Amino acid sequence: MTTTTAGNPVERLARALQKGIVAVLGDEFADTDPLIQNSRNPEFGDYQANVAMSLGKKVGKNPRELAQALVDAVELDEIAEPLDIAGPGFINIRLRTDALADMLASMDDHDLGVQPDADTHAIAIDLCGVNVAKQMHVGHLRSTIIGDALARAYERLGRTVHRENHLGDWGLPIAMVLHQLREQGVNLDTIELTDLDRAYRDAQLSGKGDSRGLAAANRLGAGPHRFIELEEQTAGAHEAIEAAKQTLVKLQQGDDELLRDWKKLIDCTLRAVYEAIDILNVKLGPENNRGESFYRDRLDGVIEHFVSKKIAHEDEGALVVRYEDRERPMLIRKSDGGFLYATTDLAAIQYRTQDLKADRLIYVVDARQRDHFRDLFDGARLAGWDHTPDGAAIEFRHIPFGAVLGDDRKPLKTRSGKLVTLKSLLDEAVDRGSAEVIGRANDPNAPTHGLPEAELREIGKHVGIGAVKYADLSNDLTKDYVFDFDRMISFEGNTGPYLQYAHARICSILGRAGDATSAARTAQFRFDEPAEKQLALVLLRYGDVVTDVARALEPHRICTYLYELAEAYNAFYQHCPVLKAEGEEIRNSRIRLCDLVRRVLADGLDLLGIQAPERM
Ligand code: ARG
Repeated sequence: MTTTTAGNPVERLARALQKGIVAVLGDEFADTDPLIQNSRNPEFGDYQANVAMSLGKKVGKNPRELAQALVDAVELDEIAEPLDIAGPGFINIRLRTDALADMLASMDDHDLGVQPDADTHAIAIDLCGVNVAKQMHVGHLRSTIIGDALARAYERLGRTVHRENHLGDWGLPIAMVLHQLREQGVNLDTIELTDLDRAYRDAQLSGKGDSRGLAAANRLGAGPHRFIELEEQTAGAHEAIEAAKQTLVKLQQGDDELLRDWKKLIDCTLRAVYEAIDILNVKLGPENNRGESFYRDRLDGVIEHFVSKKIAHEDEGALVVRYEDRERPMLIRKSDGGFLYATTDLAAIQYRTQDLKADRLIYVVDARQRDHFRDLFDGARLAGWDHTPDGAAIEFRHIPFGAVLGDDRKPLKTRSGKLVTLKSLLDEAVDRGSAEVIGRANDPNAPTHGLPEAELREIGKHVGIGAVKYADLSNDLTKDYVFDFDRMISFEGNTGPYLQYAHARICSILGRAGDATSAARTAQFRFDEPAEKQLALVLLRYGDVVTDVARALEPHRICTYLYELAEAYNAFYQHCPVLKAEGEEIRNSRIRLCDLVRRVLADGLDLLGIQAPERM
């Protein structure tokens, strides 16, 4: 990976300005951020440094005079035109054309200006986390694709990422299903997920209606997602729960037959998960499965650790962790000795921080589990799992993503009023994408005209799935969003298909350029038109955008960037003929620019897990 910053103008400008600040104000100002921004208006230059205002205030100097002193001290002749000052002390910076060409050439390699992260610890990303025997729904879509996009950004920066699929595969809910299916004598070898899902619901219903259990859940302030765990607290609970409890005990004691059946439920659930994951182009496989059951032998150790450190206390026979700043305790062992969702999650934190030595733990789990993660992270800190074994501080982050809503701003439902399953949603995406692509291929001028239908359908799949993923990832993750197929699949506006189409159009231009494309690979970049220069400036930002996505955990930044890049490219294409450019030098420079844009678009879409077909 490129380790120089030669192709990163902002970093080079920042370093030069920092030197200038030290020359004017002394060493103690060495760490001052020169506040360099992309200029909003090309008339004022390419970048702008705003440091003179804040620094002037701090040291009691007139900002404009300070700006002048900085301009006199800064050495930037190699890469910039003489600096000028505007308004109260903005320093305007214009890159020299030859320097811009050099920078662009140095980002034009395999890494596209992305620099490796200095931190070499692993990262753990908790994603997907389906519950065994349950149909995947739209919420799992979000967890899976957001988690995958973040993983891809970190991998692009050279970090090792552990994608952790924390399956809900151990505990009372699954024991209830298992018990019920065995009672009914269902053949588990041929069972389908829809049957499992029905059994899951039935089991939940037969466990509900226990008013004392619900009261216990409410008293402890537990979220609804795990209320069953708590219902069990009440003596004389419903018989369905009693029976399931016995099944669970036997399962947890390692009963062979039960374990075999349990495994079948998992396999059945995972088959459907992998089918969805394959269509979604997400990197997740069996090697990423570390469900709740993985931690079963570590739970005693967690309890011992919490007891010996005196972090957990007895409460009516149960073991709880209390926090000064909230009413709600975190329950880690029930009065009957059973463990909870939180106990398993603590074991997972211990594993991820101490065994995998990850220094950033990211949980892509919907917003309703906010309290759970808050309690969990604070518990882990109390337990001392806030440092890796080699002493790196650990950062815990829950990404509380919002819900996917229908037109009525209620959770997405089918016409018959059922919650939309992930499978039906993906099927529709593929159908819509295919219809779009097949329709366009009817035009005799379309580059896809005459392609076999199977190929058009394959492209259509990428378009449909790309549309869904892009619409999801281009929003602020924490907000709810309205799912609108018509809008997301449009080839215009800030959509996945628009970017895929921009990429495909460049592919077709380069295809027409033929051999000239390889000749242009080392061409000297030229900036005869302002639109060429603007495009170059956008391209040079790519590396920083990838770093920002990972740092801020915000995939939408890639989307915003790619959209801006596509717009800058369109402006360039309107003003600058490529294949019909005057003279070979200009033509080759433009072909090289096109090729670079094409690769950045494809790379950026890949970070989102979106395919970039060459023809559309
Ligand atoms: N299976 C859980 C649920 O559906 C989500 C798991 C999230 N990850 C975790 N480490 N708790 O509620």
